[in-house]
Amino acid sequence: MNVLIVEDNVSARKLLRLTFEHYGCTVFEAQDGQDGLEQAARHKPDIIISDALMPRMDGFQLLMALKTDPVLKSIPFIFYSSAYTGDKEAELALSLGAEASVIKPVEPAELWEKICAIRETYKARQSKSAHAAADESNEQYLREYSRIVAAKLEEKVRELEDEIEERKEIQDELEQLNETLEQRVQERIAELNERNAEIQLAYDNLKKVQAQLLQQDKMASIGQLAAGVAHEINNPMGFIISNLSSLGKYVEKVTAYLDADEKILAGCALEIQEMALKERQKYKIEHICKDMPMLISESADGAQRVRQIVQDLKSFSRMDRTEFANANINEGLESTLSIAWNELKYNATVIREFGQLPLVWCNQGQLNQVFLNILLNAAHAIKEQGTIRIKTRAKEESVTIAISDTGSGIAPEHINRIFDPFFTTKDVGKGTGLGLAIAYDIITNKHGGTIEVQSEPGKGSTFVITLPVGRGNTQAPTVLTRN
Ligand SMILES: Nc1ncnc2c1ncn2[C@@H]1O[C@H](COP(=O)(O)OP(=O)(O)OP(=O)(O)O)[C@@H](O)[C@H]1O
Ligand SMILES: [Mg+2]
Repeated sequence: MNVLIVEDNVSARKLLRLTFEHYGCTVFEAQDGQDGLEQAARHKPDIIISDALMPRMDGFQLLMALKTDPVLKSIPFIFYSSAYTGDKEAELALSLGAEASVIKPVEPAELWEKICAIRETYKARQSKSAHAAADESNEQYLREYSRIVAAKLEEKVRELEDEIEERKEIQDELEQLNETLEQRVQERIAELNERNAEIQLAYDNLKKVQAQLLQQDKMASIGQLAAGVAHEINNPMGFIISNLSSLGKYVEKVTAYLDADEKILAGCALEIQEMALKERQKYKIEHICKDMPMLISESADGAQRVRQIVQDLKSFSRMDRTEFANANINEGLESTLSIAWNELKYNATVIREFGQLPLVWCNQGQLNQVFLNILLNAAHAIKEQGTIRIKTRAKEESVTIAISDTGSGIAPEHINRIFDPFFTTKDVGKGTGLGLAIAYDIITNKHGGTIEVQSEPGKGSTFVITLPVGRGNTQAPTVLTRN
C-alpha cells in the first residue's frame, strides 16, 4: 500500500513514516497541504493521512482541493489531528468527504488497525456511490470550516499564551535562582574571607606567642646560667672572705710582734741593732707592714663586692624560686638595679623612693625581668644625662611601682602600640620590641596586675605597675639602699 503523509511537524511525520513502513507500506511525505496536493498528483497514493492545521494550505483546504480533482477525489482521505475542536472538526472533515477522522495520538498498532478497517469500509462503500457532499452546500461547509479553523487558531493562541506564561514563569524562577545563587556565592565568599581573616589572626597570634615563648625561654636560660655561675662562685668566695678576715688578724699580730721585736732590739748592742735594721730594710719590712693591712682591706672589699654581685645575680634570676612565692618587691628592684647598673650609670642618676611594702605573692624572677626591661628602656630614652626615679608604695591590697625617666618620652602615635609584640623604634638589631609585650603578659596575665604608661614627648615617661598583694601580706623588711 502507498501512503501519503501530510504533516508539518517533522517528528510526527517521522513517527507515521516508521509506523507505515513497519507494516510494509511505501510512504510519501508532504510538509503542508500544498505539498500534499502535488505529491498526491505525482504518486497517486492508496490513502492520504493528513494533519488539520498546517501552514500555506491546511488539511481542510487540501481535502476540498482533492475532492474537486477528478482523479484524486477517489483516494481515501483520513484526518489525523489533535482534539482541539472535538466532534465539530470530525463532522466537518467527514462532510467534506474525508473517510474518517482519527484523533492524535494513537499507538502505532492501533493506528494501523484503524487505517485497515477504514480502507475496508471505503472499498465496500466505493461500489455504491461516490460522496457528493462537497458539492451540496459549499457555502455552509466554508462557514463551518472557517469557524473550526478560527476555533483551532484560538486554541493554538491559548496554547501559545500558556506556553509563553509557562516560559516566563520558568525564566522568573531561573532569574530568582540566579540571584539567590549569586547571593549565596557572595555570602560564601564573605564567609571564606572572614575565615581567612580569622586564620590569619590566629596565625599572627601564634607567631607572637611563639616569639614570646622563645624570648622567655632565652631569659630563663640566661637566668639559669647566671644562677649556676653565681652558685659556683659563691662557695670559693666564702673561704676567700673568711681567709682574708683571718689574714687581717694575722697581719695585726705579726705587726704587733714586729713592734715588740723592735722594742727588744733597742736594748741590744749597737752592732746588733744595725744588723737588724739592715735586714728590715733589705726586706722592706716597714713598707710591707704599712701596705699589708691596706691590701687585705682592699681585697676584702673586692671580695665583698663579688659576693654582692653573686647575691644580686641569684636574687635576680631567682632560679631557686621559679614558682610563686611571697617576695619583697623592693629587694627585687634593688637586685635588678645592680644588674642593670652598667647600662644606667653613665647617663642616669637613680633615685629610690622605696616605701614599706608587704610581701607580694609573685614569681620574682619574672617580675625582675619586667623591672629590668623598664629600667633599660628608661636608660635608652635618656640621651645625655637624666634621672630615673623608682617609687614603691603599698595601697590597701596592692602595691604600686612607678618607674619614671626624664628621657625622650613616647610619641602620641606610638603610645598605644608600645605593648604590641615587635613594636620598636630602636634601630634594626638593637631591640626586638618584645620587652614590654612580655612585661604586659607577666604583669596582667600571670600576676593579675596592671601596667600603664604616661608620657610627654621631650619630658619623659612613667610606667606604673600595680600588683595585688595576693597571699603575701606579711610586712617586708625595709631594704637598705645602695648606689
Ligand atoms: N621609657 C621609655 N621612653 C621612651 N620610649 C619608650 C620607653 N619605653 C618604651 N619605649 C618605646 O616602646 C618601644 C617598645 O619597647 P620594648 O621594650 O617593648 O621593645 P624595645 O626596647 O624596642 O626592644 P627590646 O626590649 O625587645 O630589646 C621602644 O622601642 C620605645 O620606642
Ligand atoms: Mg625594651
